[in-house]
Amino acid sequence: MRGVSFNELQGKNFLHHIFIAKEEYMHNQTSEINLIDAFERIPVQIFPTIKEGSAHAAQQIASLIKQKEQAGEKCVLGLATGSTPKTLYAELVRMHKQEALSFKNVITFNLDEYYPIDNDAFQSYNAFMQRHLFKHIDIDPANIHIPDGQLTKEEIKTHALAYERMIEETGGIDLQILGIGNNGHIGFNEPGSSIYSKTRLINLENSTRLANAYEFANISEVPRLAITMGISVILKAKKIILLAWGPSKAPVVQKAVEGNVTESVPASLLQQHNDCSFIIDEAAAAVLTRFKSPLLTGEINWSPKMIKKAVVNMALKLEKPVLSLTNNDYTDFGLGDLLFDE
Ligand code: PGA
Repeated sequence: MRGVSFNELQGKNFLHHIFIAKEEYMHNQTSEINLIDAFERIPVQIFPTIKEGSAHAAQQIASLIKQKEQAGEKCVLGLATGSTPKTLYAELVRMHKQEALSFKNVITFNLDEYYPIDNDAFQSYNAFMQRHLFKHIDIDPANIHIPDGQLTKEEIKTHALAYERMIEETGGIDLQILGIGNNGHIGFNEPGSSIYSKTRLINLENSTRLANAYEFANISEVPRLAITMGISVILKAKKIILLAWGPSKAPVVQKAVEGNVTESVPASLLQQHNDCSFIIDEAAAAVLTRFKSPLLTGEINWSPKMIKKAVVNMALKLEKPVLSLTNNDYTDFGLGDLLFDE
C-alpha cells in the first residue's frame, strides 16, 4: 500500500485518505497475498481442476529440463507415486509425444517402494513408474533410480546409503515432486518421522495401508513396510512441488500450510524449505483460512450485506449487542478494516 505523506495530508480530510488507502488495499494484489501469507506459510497455487494443476506442474518440469539441456547439464528429478501424480505423468508423456520434450538429460530418483515386493509386481512402484511414465518417454533406463523392494532386510541399510550417495553424486535433486498422505506423510515418512530422517525402512500406518488398499486385492495384501527417502533427503532438493487433489486432502493441506511445524504432520516440515510450493485444486484448498474464513484474510468484496453479516456474526459470537462492540473487538475479530468505513 502506498504511504500517505504529511504534505498530502495537509488541508485534506485524513479519513478520506484512509478510504482511498483502503480502496487501494482491496485492489492491491500484493497486499492481499501478504494477508494470505500471514496464515499460509508455504506458497499455494490453486487450480480449478486436477488437469490444470497438473499441466502447470508439468510446465515447470519441462522448463527446467529444457533449461538444463541448453546449459548442457543433467536434470535431476525426484518423483512420487500414488494416484496424485498420474495426471502429471500423462501430461509429461503428451508433451514428449506431441511437443518433442526429451528426457535424455533427465535422471530420476523415486521417493519410495513397498517392502517386500517384487519389482515387477503390478502394485510395485517400480512397475507403476514404468506404466505411467518411463516406458512412454526417451529416458535412459540407466538414469532411473527406485528403491529396491526385493532386498533382504540386512541389505537395506547399505542400499539406502548407496541411494543417498547416488543422489549426491548427481549434484542433488533439482526438483522434487511430492504427494501428501491423509496423515500428512511425504514419501512414506509417516507421522513421527524426524526432520533429520534418512532413507530407511519404515512401518506403514494402518491408515496408509487402508488408503492404498485399492491397489491390492485386499488390505491384508498391502505390505506393512516400505523403503522411503528420508525427510532430510527430501529437504535437500533445490526445489519442491507438492501436489494435492480432492476434498479428502483439504484438512491435511490446511495443517501442513497453516499449522505449526511438527513431526506429527511431516508435510508441515516443508515450511522449513526455502523453495517449496503447493499446487492444489479447489477441493483440496477448501479449508484454507482464505476460503473458510475469508473475513480474516481480507479477500472479500465488502458489500453492505457482507458487512452486516460479519458484524452480526461477531456480535453473536461475542454475545454483545452490535452497538456495544468496541474497536478492539473489530480488530481482534479480523474486521479492523470496517472501522475505516462510513
Ligand atoms: P495418493 O497418495 O496420491 O494415492 O493420494 C499420496 C501419498 O501417499 O503421498
